[in-house]
Amino acid sequence: MAGEGKKVWMDGEFVDLDDAKISVMTQTLHYGFGVFEGIRCYKLTNGGSAIFRLKKHVRRLFDGTKILSMETPFTEQQIIDAHVKAVQVNGFDECYLRPIIYSDIGSFGLAAINPTRAAVIAREWGTYLGEGALERGVRVKVSTFNRHHVNVGMVQGKICGQYVTSILAKREAIKDGYDEAIMLDTEGYVAECTGENIFTVKDGVIRTPPTNSPILPGITRNSVIQLASDMNLEIREERFTRDFTYLADEVFLTGTAAEVTPVREVDNRAIGAGKPGPITQRLQKAYFDVVRGNDEHYKRWLTVI
Ligand SMILES: Cc1ncc(COP(=O)(O)O)c(C=O)c1O
Repeated sequence: MAGEGKKVWMDGEFVDLDDAKISVMTQTLHYGFGVFEGIRCYKLTNGGSAIFRLKKHVRRLFDGTKILSMETPFTEQQIIDAHVKAVQVNGFDECYLRPIIYSDIGSFGLAAINPTRAAVIAREWGTYLGEGALERGVRVKVSTFNRHHVNVGMVQGKICGQYVTSILAKREAIKDGYDEAIMLDTEGYVAECTGENIFTVKDGVIRTPPTNSPILPGITRNSVIQLASDMNLEIREERFTRDFTYLADEVFLTGTAAEVTPVREVDNRAIGAGKPGPITQRLQKAYFDVVRGNDEHYKRWLTVI
């Protein structure tokens, strides 16, 4: 398949992609009981490549295993090293990395505690929300599907099975002619998108839902908050309503896959002038400067290959 790395790290060794197979009896396949991550490796402006915030992603991966009480036979350092090697072995200078920790074959049934396995896949992945999304912005709609109630989904982790709702919301949005879906929480406030956190800008104040609401604590979200405060921009972590997004001057989304993507329309209403706003553009530029190694201060976020 075009774009897929030829070698996959599985349980401590690299195997050919064609041999990287699991059994149909794998417990995670049936029940979604597993955790994964999405991580990007970028080509640096001055040569070489670096994985962005690798340690923080691997920490969140292990946080997910703790939430699920999954025993994993690997240390965080072994999984970190596996990512670096996955980039090198596959010869990528820029790629998307997908670790997954899953529950293997053993007993069948919900009570079964089966051996835990791990894999790291490397592949190419361009602009996630479509051609021109980063430059022109995307059109989004509020989904008919809610983000999980905090006692239904364990929202602090990237738990495999939780993405069923994200897929439903994403497919609904695409079928209805939009690029992405905004998911409300079960109280009706804006939570996040299917694979991105959401921000608004109104009268110079940036707002994003807090991490004690049902959102994934996004690593791009965290990076953008730090960049915004470095710029002395006012940023508040607070809930807001869907109609607040209609009236915002700017809306943008953050995520490893989506990076910093402007939103030009919500529910068929133009946001601001219907094109990326100045604060979004500044933060987007700052983000790309960081991931491409042009910001000395944030070189500490890069794992150079
Ligand atoms: C539901 C959800 N929200 C937000 C994000 C953004 O998180 P990050 O910036 O860490 O990629 C993701 C992607 O991992 C996600 O799946």
